[in-house]
Amino acid sequence: MSRIVAAPEPPVIVIFGATGSLALGKIIPALLNLQRKRRLPPGTRVLGVARQELDDDRFRARIEAALRQQGGLTDPAAWREFAASVSYAVGDVSNGTGLAKARQALDALGPGPRLYYMALAPWLYARAIDSLNAAGLDGRSALGDPRWRRLVIEKPFGDDLASALDLSRKVLSVFDESQVFRIDHYLGKETVQNILVFRFANAMFEPLWNRNLIDHVQITVAESGRITGRGPYYDGAGVLRDMFQNHLLQLLSLVAMEAPSRFEADSVRGEKVKLLGAVRRVDQVAAPAHLVCGQYEGYRLEPGVRRDSRTPTFAAVKLFIDNWRWKGVPFYLRSGKALGRRVTEIVIQLVAPPHNMFDLPSGQALAANRISLGIQPDEGVRVRFESKVPDRGMELRSATLNFQFGDLEAGPAPDAYERLLLDALGGDATLFMRQDEIEQAWSLIDPLTRAVERNEAPAPFPYAPGSWGPAAADDFITLDGRAWAIESPEA
Ligand code: BG6
Repeated sequence: MSRIVAAPEPPVIVIFGATGSLALGKIIPALLNLQRKRRLPPGTRVLGVARQELDDDRFRARIEAALRQQGGLTDPAAWREFAASVSYAVGDVSNGTGLAKARQALDALGPGPRLYYMALAPWLYARAIDSLNAAGLDGRSALGDPRWRRLVIEKPFGDDLASALDLSRKVLSVFDESQVFRIDHYLGKETVQNILVFRFANAMFEPLWNRNLIDHVQITVAESGRITGRGPYYDGAGVLRDMFQNHLLQLLSLVAMEAPSRFEADSVRGEKVKLLGAVRRVDQVAAPAHLVCGQYEGYRLEPGVRRDSRTPTFAAVKLFIDNWRWKGVPFYLRSGKALGRRVTEIVIQLVAPPHNMFDLPSGQALAANRISLGIQPDEGVRVRFESKVPDRGMELRSATLNFQFGDLEAGPAPDAYERLLLDALGGDATLFMRQDEIEQAWSLIDPLTRAVERNEAPAPFPYAPGSWGPAAADDFITLDGRAWAIESPEA
């Protein structure tokens, strides 16, 4: 006889660090949007937890003020409805007994499923896990229960391999891996997910996606913003930990991994781990030829930054993937703050045609084809190929096929956090990082940070804010007979 399974109660999303900029600037606006689109399970409750002595109304007023400031209060009726589902409990995650009130508030909300979101400063993670456990808010005791418990953790997950392993031991002593959702918000971006669709939902690109036809790949994540307000964190981290260990390596994995058999958490993550494992490690000896670091002029005057800081705010890295598909193909990755423009783009540069049969005007050579995947702010795909110029003999010129996400007329792309929150609520971990992925990523970045941080290492090259980084980063790629490329036009 079949058992009648009670309908699961609505979930409670508990946000630890609820008065911080991540909660107010990203998580709560995403939840409000999801509620407006009727995508949240009916009856979902949001409980904010932080140290400040607020009550429900003052917390709601705090959110409202933040939304207003961000221009996110466009639908007052939706806000009023959402606000009614929001409550607050005072809680200190750094103190073993600090979550007693949060526990009481949760008990009052009922025994339903719970998503614990750690929107906290990373140095609080380990203590927060202890405090959750001490308050009886662990995950393991609910394993297999339809009233699930899940933990969402923001990056950075550790600051090197050793600390990531320590943190992992702590997390996994209280939660099971299946309950842990480690966020890299790049994976929530539509254009990032589209990398896999572009590669594996089409037959025409994949056959050329290998060492036979691809000369090299570039991944640029350029930011025009500085480190404003994040000095103490950033100065300890630098661009390699802040951007490469997570976002750039995630982009690299998606561009270069093998096709998983299903778009499902363990297949996708298994392929990413294999790919990261195949990336050749750049040790101290290889570092000078594979890594260029820069620091924007004025960085040392930012609040919270050491006046003699050698922390890189820009890096360009050349990586090789030692497998059958990619042997010998360089992957150039670069990222930095205070650059000329905010642009994230992946350029797949194909080889030049092996033979030129055309009588080109003098000085002209056949240009190699190029596919560029625009991640942001330009969202689309560009394919560059050679064309004859009409009525000009055999003059050729590069032409571009340009697809824009907006052409699909599906409305504006949602914020990355909307997708990730929904997936975590649905228990789908495909777009979250598994522990072994984090370990692979650190084992790749650790030798680079060691090379940069040893005492005898050269200081990062200074570069002017608004430029494309230090000249040395251009020399680094020109020495290989190549040049940095960005296809998307300036907005
Ligand atoms: C964060 C980094 O993870 O990503 C920031 O800590 C960076 O330094 C940000 O600015 C970039 O995210 P996005 O979505 O604006 O490209």
